[in-house]
Amino acid sequence: MKRIIVTGGAGFIGSNFIFYMRQAHPEDRLICLDKLTYAGNLSTLAPVMGDGNFRFCKTDICDREAVYRIFEEEKPDIVVNFAAESHVDRSIENPSIFLETNIIGTSVLMDACRKYGIERYHQVSTDEVYGDLPLDRPDLFFTEETPIHTSSPYSSSKASADLLVLAYHRTYGLPVSISRCSNNYGPYHFPEKLIPLMIINALHDEPLPVYGAGLNVRDWLYVEDHCKAIDLVIRNGRVGEVYNIGGHNEMQNIEIVRLICDRLHKPESLITHVTDRKGHDLRYAIDPSKIHRELGWLPETKFADGIEKTIDWYLKHEDWWQPIVTGEYRNYYERMYGNR
Ligand code: NAD
Ligand code: DAU
Repeated sequence: MKRIIVTGGAGFIGSNFIFYMRQAHPEDRLICLDKLTYAGNLSTLAPVMGDGNFRFCKTDICDREAVYRIFEEEKPDIVVNFAAESHVDRSIENPSIFLETNIIGTSVLMDACRKYGIERYHQVSTDEVYGDLPLDRPDLFFTEETPIHTSSPYSSSKASADLLVLAYHRTYGLPVSISRCSNNYGPYHFPEKLIPLMIINALHDEPLPVYGAGLNVRDWLYVEDHCKAIDLVIRNGRVGEVYNIGGHNEMQNIEIVRLICDRLHKPESLITHVTDRKGHDLRYAIDPSKIHRELGWLPETKFADGIEKTIDWYLKHEDWWQPIVTGEYRNYYERMYGNR
C-alpha cells in the first residue's frame, strides 16, 4: 500500500490518473492537492470523493506552509506533480503565473519531499521542452538526449522545472523521475485545447479557428495510455531518469479538425483559418523506445478508437462542459479569438 500525493488532480490528466489508479491499485491512498484554478473542476472528482482511501485538499502548491502541513499529516511515499498552468496561448498572453506555479510550485513540493523524506518525486513534464522539429524531416524524433530548446513561456517554465528536478537529484540526492509526454486527448480535457474546442464549436455550428494553415504536427496519445506509463515509471522507473512518452501518432491540426467535422456530420466550411500562434512550434514527435525497452510500455489505444471514444464522451457529458463554456471561459474566448 502506497500513500501517493497527486497534485493537479482536478485537471485533465490528473483526474484521469486518479481514476486509473483507483482501478489499478485500490489499496493505495491518494491525496489530491489542487488549487482549483479555472482549469480545475471539483465535480470531475465526484466519483471518488466518498472513497475512504481518497482525500481532496484545495491547496496551492506554491503555499509552502499548507504543503508542509499535508506532508506532515499524510507522510506520502510518492508525489506525482501534474499541477501546472498548461495552456501555451495563455502563457503568451501573461507568463507570470506560469513561472509561479510551474517553477516555484515544483520547488516547494520538492523541498517538502526533502524535509519529510520520500520514496519518489515524479515530475509530469512535456515534449514541448525539446522545442520543435522541422516539418520536412520526418526521420527526426525527440529522444531523452535531445537538448532542451523551448519556444513559449509555458514550455520554458516546464523546462526550468525539469532542470530544478534534476538539480535536486544531483545536489540533495532526491529520488526523482521525469516523464515527457506528447499531446494527450480524452475525457475531461479542458475546452480551451484543440480537440475539445473543435468538438464543442462544431456541435454549436460555430467557426473552427485553425491557427495559420493548420499544417503543424502534434503526436497524439490517449490519456489513459499516459496514466499507465506514469504508473510504471513511479514504480519501476530508474531514479534520476527522464522517460519520453508518445504514441507515434503524428497528425496535422487540419487533419484532426476535418476528422471531427466528419464524425459529427458538420460541414468543413466551418473551418476558419485565423492568425497563427506567436512562436508556434511546427512539429512534435516522440521517440518512446526507452520506456518500451526498460519498462515494457506501449500505447494501447489506437487513435481511430480513442478519438471515437472522446467525441462520444463529449456528446454524452454536456453537463460537464456546458457550465465551463458559458462561464468565465466566454471572456477568454472573446479575448483570444474575437479579433483574430
Ligand atoms: P490542466 O490545465 O487540465 O490541469 C491543471 C490542474 O492543475 C488543474 O486542476 C489546476 O487547478 C491545477 N493547478 C494549477 N495551478 C495550481 C497550483 N498552483 N496549485 C495546485 N494546483 C494547481 O492540465 P493537464 O492538461 O491535465 O496537464 C497536467 C500536467 O501534464 C501539466 O504539468 C502539463 O504540463 C503536463 N502535460 C500535459 C499534456 C497535455 O497534452 N495536456 C501533455 C504532456 C504533459
Ligand atoms: O505536447 C504536449 C503539450 O500539448 C502540453 O505540454 C500542453 O500542456 C498542451 O496544452 C498541449 O500543447 P499544444 O499547444 O500542442 O496544444 P493545443 O491544444 O493548445 O494546440 C494543439 C495544436 O492546435 C497547436 O498546433 C495549436 C493548434 N490550435 C489550437 C487551438 C486551441 C489551433 O489551430 N486552434 C485552436 O483554437
